[in-house]
Amino acid sequence: MVRLEKIEKSYGNTRVLKGINLEIEKGDFISIMGSSGSGKSTLLNLIGAMDRPERGNIFIDGEEISSYTDEQLTIYRRGKVGFIFQFFNLLPNITAFENIQMPLLLNGIEDEAKVFEYIKRVGLNGKEDAYPYQLSGGEQQRVAIARALIHDPEIILADEPTGSLDSENGRVIMDLIKELTDKTGKTVILVTHEGYIAEYAQKRVRIKDGVIL
Ligand SMILES: Nc1ncnc2c1ncn2[C@@H]1O[C@H](COP(=O)(O)OP(=O)(O)O)[C@@H](O)[C@H]1O
Ligand SMILES: [Mg+2]
Repeated sequence: MVRLEKIEKSYGNTRVLKGINLEIEKGDFISIMGSSGSGKSTLLNLIGAMDRPERGNIFIDGEEISSYTDEQLTIYRRGKVGFIFQFFNLLPNITAFENIQMPLLLNGIEDEAKVFEYIKRVGLNGKEDAYPYQLSGGEQQRVAIARALIHDPEIILADEPTGSLDSENGRVIMDLIKELTDKTGKTVILVTHEGYIAEYAQKRVRIKDGVIL
């Protein structure tokens, strides 16, 4: 499903990823653990085609995406990938409903019933007209989870999804991510620096000094 071969990435003179090799099967729930600054977000952004590696290959379903044009990468990102971030990254000036609807609109799909279905799935009934600032952190992350799943992507990329929540809310959010992705056989790649969050995954690897251990 996802295969990384000898991925290298630097920022200026700082070599962050020094030859990452990793293979992830369809339906896997994998955690990548590493300390702050170890390159976890950099790696996730490469898998999600938010950025390109300097060297190495990224295969998605056997296709090498480093050779994709920017347009092909946009189609891949919009269609096959759902992102969940530490700080939710909701659009502040639109409602919960509209945030969740956004991936459908970007893919040319008009389906309000589906938006309501996902609002229900993440337990946000009655909050659809709230703006992000009117929601708690946990509720904002529920919006983000619905937004990440609504267009039925194959791959979910979660970058410290509980990093700005207390541990109780963090567990609730992890339970929700696990429940909603297990059921549908999604491939989940979770990065975290917290051991108890990594334990939600069936497969666990560590990133250290720019390589996967
Ligand atoms: N856009 C950027 N420009 C310059 N340096 C960056 C950039 N993004 C990340 N870095 C640096 O790369 C290293 C890895 O960052 P990051 O992938 O965010 O780590 P993590 O997510 O594990 O905390 C850090 O030293 C960070 O300062
Ligand atoms: Mg990070």
